[in-house]
Amino acid sequence: MRSMFSNKTPAAATPDKRAPVHVGVIMDGNGRWAAARGLPRIEGHRRGLEALRGAVRAAIDFGLDYLTVYSFSVENWSRPQEEISDLLGLLKFFIRNDLADLRKADVKVRIIGRRDDLKPDVRALLAEAEATTRDCGGLTLIVAFNYGARQEIAAAARAIAEDARAGRIDPSAVDAAYFASRLDAAGAPDPDLIIRTSGEQRLSNFLLWQAAYSEFVFLPMHWPDFDRKAFAAALAEYGQRERRFGGSAPAVSVAGG
Ligand code: FPP
Repeated sequence: MRSMFSNKTPAAATPDKRAPVHVGVIMDGNGRWAAARGLPRIEGHRRGLEALRGAVRAAIDFGLDYLTVYSFSVENWSRPQEEISDLLGLLKFFIRNDLADLRKADVKVRIIGRRDDLKPDVRALLAEAEATTRDCGGLTLIVAFNYGARQEIAAAARAIAEDARAGRIDPSAVDAAYFASRLDAAGAPDPDLIIRTSGEQRLSNFLLWQAAYSEFVFLPMHWPDFDRKAFAAALAEYGQRERRFGGSAPAVSVAGG
C-alpha cells in the first residue's frame, strides 16, 4: 500500500530554487478556527492534525530536509485539563495511526522537549516513534512536544555545568557551537524559515537559540486552513528574502562597471 505521505506528483516540485533546508512551524489558531465555526476547541485541534499531515506531505514534495512543528509547549499545561487530554490523545493517535506511513515515506521522527514529566505510556510512544524511523533518510520531522526554548537552553546549561564540575569538560571549550550540540535537536541545522499562522507575530518560546538568523513569515490564516498553497507561498516569500547572517549587503553590480 502506498504511504499516505508519499503522493508525489510530477507537478510537486520545489516552488523556489532558493528553498530552505529547515522550516519551523508554529501551528497557531486551532481554537479560534473552531470558535469562529461554533465548534468545540478539540475540533480545531483535529483539523489541525489534518493540516499537519498535509504540511508533512508538502514538505516531502518540496524537498525540505527538516520540518519542526510546535505541537505542545511547556506553557500549554495551564490549559483546562480536558483540552490537555485532547491534545495528548491526538499526539498518541498521530503516532499510532501514522507511524507506519511516516516510515514508508522515509520520514525520520525526532521529538524535542521535556520527557521526564510525561506519563510512561506517552514517553514509550515517543521513544517508539523515534526508534521505528531511526534509519529513515528522507525528511526529518521534529515534533516539539512539552517543549520550551528557555527550558531547553537552561537544561543544556545545567548539563554543561555538571560536566564542568565533574571535570569532564573544560569551561573554556564552551563556545556557541559546543552549546548548540547540547540542545535537544543537536545536529539539525538552524531553521532557515519559521512560519506562524493565526496572525500573531511572536516566537512564544519556540527555538529561541536556533532562530538567531531565521526568516519569519506570519500568515493571517488559522492553522487548520494552512494548506499546500499557503506553504508554497511562504517558501516563495522566503526565496525573495536576502539573508546576510550579520554580514554586509552583497555587492550590487554598478551599471557599466
Ligand atoms: C495552537 O492553537 C495549537 C496548539 C496548542 C496545538 C497544536 C496541535 C495540533 C496542530 C494538532 C495535534 C498534533 C499533535 C502532534 C499533538 P491554539 O489552541 O492556541 O489556538 P487559539 O490561539 O486560537 O486558541
